[in-house]
Amino acid sequence: MKYVIGVDLGTSAVKVLLVNQEGEVVKEAAKAYPLIQEKSGYSEQDPEEWVEKTAEALAELAAGFNGDPADIEGISFSGQMHGLVLLDERHRPLRNAILWNDTRTTEQCRQIYEIAGRERLLQITKNLALEGFTLPKILWVRQHEPEIFQRAKVFLLPKDYLRFRMTGKIHMEYSDAAGTLLLDLEKKEWSKELCRLLSIDPAICPPLVEPHACVGTLSKEFAERCGLKETTKVFAGGADNACGAIGAGILSEGSTLCSIGTSGVVLSYEERGDKDFQGKVHYFYHGKENAYYIMGVTLAAGYSLSWFKDAFAKKESFDDFLKGIDRVPPGSDGLLFAPYIVGERTPHADAAIRGSFIGIDSSHTREHFIRAVIEGITFSLNESIEIFRKSGKRVDTVVSIGGGAKNETWLQIQADIFNAKIIKLSSEQGPGMGAAMLAAYGCGWFESLEECAKEFLQTKKVYEPVEENVKIYQEMYEIYKNIYSQTKVLSHQLKNFRK
Ligand code: XUL
Repeated sequence: MKYVIGVDLGTSAVKVLLVNQEGEVVKEAAKAYPLIQEKSGYSEQDPEEWVEKTAEALAELAAGFNGDPADIEGISFSGQMHGLVLLDERHRPLRNAILWNDTRTTEQCRQIYEIAGRERLLQITKNLALEGFTLPKILWVRQHEPEIFQRAKVFLLPKDYLRFRMTGKIHMEYSDAAGTLLLDLEKKEWSKELCRLLSIDPAICPPLVEPHACVGTLSKEFAERCGLKETTKVFAGGADNACGAIGAGILSEGSTLCSIGTSGVVLSYEERGDKDFQGKVHYFYHGKENAYYIMGVTLAAGYSLSWFKDAFAKKESFDDFLKGIDRVPPGSDGLLFAPYIVGERTPHADAAIRGSFIGIDSSHTREHFIRAVIEGITFSLNESIEIFRKSGKRVDTVVSIGGGAKNETWLQIQADIFNAKIIKLSSEQGPGMGAAMLAAYGCGWFESLEECAKEFLQTKKVYEPVEENVKIYQEMYEIYKNIYSQTKVLSHQLKNFRK
């Protein structure tokens, strides 16, 4: 039997999966690392932590593997998107990585619109200038830390830096490059025009490859450190959302994914890269060659729930915390929650908006609040689905993965709020499985990613929308949609009082 490894470099932890040719996860390991948050809106990580913790996780995987490490043929990656890693001429990080959920760059986004023009930016990159994306972070470092920026020779994204440390080779692949705001999405090349307009030396942009491309093998040093073989082939990998799509079989037109992790995304397969969604949703390169996806992002999805639990029930297990939410009726007896606790992306790109509970009544219990948080996260994701539907996409079946797919009640809430069938997969491993599938395809085990998906992925359960719940949620959703406009001014006024 042969094996591949999928490495999922997430925001809170790295997770590694050892997967056999039948798609079974035979071993897995995870290691957590901290976020560095010096100020409100800042979110950084030390790139060295990613390397250390990945090496530890891989060593644990290899130590627990009974077979011959030479049978582990390939390894590939899924990575948290957009994070800026700036390297000096000896390819050492110049500062901590600035992550996707860091929102310090509102001013730089404004500068990008002013210099490049909103329309031209959209034509080239197909995306808006959002605080989380990489280009505004590059401009921020140039403006605020010029002595560091002067020494920058190349920039990478988190998993590309990790891969560099495992192979010694510098690359970026298209699915993650699409989230930098410097890629010409249709042409699949770095935009010389944007570099020229924004006075960025194109030499800092790394060479681009396809997500399934083999970029080399493990370095001797790294292989020895983890107990793996130097002959293990290394494949470029993909953005976590692209890998989430592969790992959930979102590989043809008409398939939609809902992934609820720290952030929450809904994404839909898109076969063309030349459409115009006017920036209403993100429009990125897929992990499958010459394919794309559109995506809406709720910044604090799972994070809203874990924030609520940490604030009010820190010591409880998640299972205990969620007990009783199924006894609260759909609509939480009139309690609404807007999950804007770290700002929002889709459909309201606004770093200063904050969350709220609306309609608190003296009859509401703790369970009402928990259910309202879950419903609010799902309403927010439904705003993205509504944009997809308005653009002409059919959304009648959604594969649900991540933390949101672990709870039966939440899966039913998704079916009822999205008014679509929700598919739960048998062994849901999310982006890590997508990364392993890229390696399996790259190793030549399958003719295509679709064939790999047929072998690796199975449906476990389907959740059908319940008509009377759908009706209640449709009414509540119309009210929910007003929360943003009605709380915007208050939220912005409160900004100065936040830490
Ligand atoms: C997508 C985004 C997040 C991160 C999470 O644009 O910012 O989904 O990729 O890792």
